Amino acid sequence: MHRSNATKRAVLSVLLERRGNLVSSGLLRTLAGVTRQAIWKSVESLREEGFPILSVPQKGYILKEAAFPDLAPSWIDFLLKDSPWGHPVLLWESLPSTQEVLKQMARNGTPAGALCLAEEQTLGRGRRGRVWSSPPRGGLYFSLLSRPRLLPSKIQLLNLAAGLSVSRSLQQLFGIPCQLKWPNDILWQGKKLCGILSETACEADRVHYAVTGIGINANIALSAFPRELSDQVTSLASILGREIDRGRVVAGIISDLHRRLALLETPSGEENLIAEYGRHCHTLRREVRVLTGERIYEGLAVALSAEGALCVETEEGLLSFSAADVVHLRPR
Ligand code: BTN
Repeated sequence: MHRSNATKRAVLSVLLERRGNLVSSGLLRTLAGVTRQAIWKSVESLREEGFPILSVPQKGYILKEAAFPDLAPSWIDFLLKDSPWGHPVLLWESLPSTQEVLKQMARNGTPAGALCLAEEQTLGRGRRGRVWSSPPRGGLYFSLLSRPRLLPSKIQLLNLAAGLSVSRSLQQLFGIPCQLKWPNDILWQGKKLCGILSETACEADRVHYAVTGIGINANIALSAFPRELSDQVTSLASILGREIDRGRVVAGIISDLHRRLALLETPSGEENLIAEYGRHCHTLRREVRVLTGERIYEGLAVALSAEGALCVETEEGLLSFSAADVVHLRPR
């Protein structure tokens, strides 16, 4: 497991700014504000994360121009230097599920903002007990710990905020217009690109913690998906025709989500979030099939409730669904 920390962030910032050039040990000490011993330890640890750092005896260090792993924790931590979240970032090569480790950390008192990533998940989980296939190399699997000041009945708002953060970040980074499918799928041209799953520990009137897991089909070729999914899913690499820097995607989402959740706690924050989600949600104003697990309903999705539930005009009247699977019946 690799883990970011503040000293590595300081050292890496200086080396990145002067990438390809020699940085003397003295300058590195001054700019990063750390001791010689701390620099040596940080450089060793940054190398273990995959940063190509050359030591020039008696002189200093060079961060070579060569590529480094896009999910290196210190890279994501550096990109999030202006955000209170994403400190620390932890990356595992392989893990059953990022949700599980982060929930354990939450129970041990880890503060909000901790971020866990894995290159591969062996027991990746989706909503409603489904499997989230998480093969190695190219996918993006991460979970964020938050401690939102929300009533437990409003926890769906966290999923809606995360969906908006994903779609906004993908638009900003790559100019991709995504569609939000209630409650927490991100589609591109009707195909699934990302799924979100929030799990919480609550008391009657407060949320102890929430762990929001995000899975994005990032640098995965369409041929790598199981045949039965091939017409339902897509990936960033196949949309863009090139591989992307997954670290930038994670950092974009996390900093946007931090901002959104801070706004959510302001007086009209919840209303504003529902309104913004409503403007971008492709499920609204459309014929839908709603699968609750017990029954199937059909009708016109007309609104979102203050809790983020989907309100559907059915033959039985106006029904509201707080958790369900939705199928979009007809293209708009
Ligand atoms: C869904 O669409 O069903 C939600 C999928 C959520 C998948 C992510 S990947 C990172 C985190 N770890 C998991 O085991 N699941 C979530």
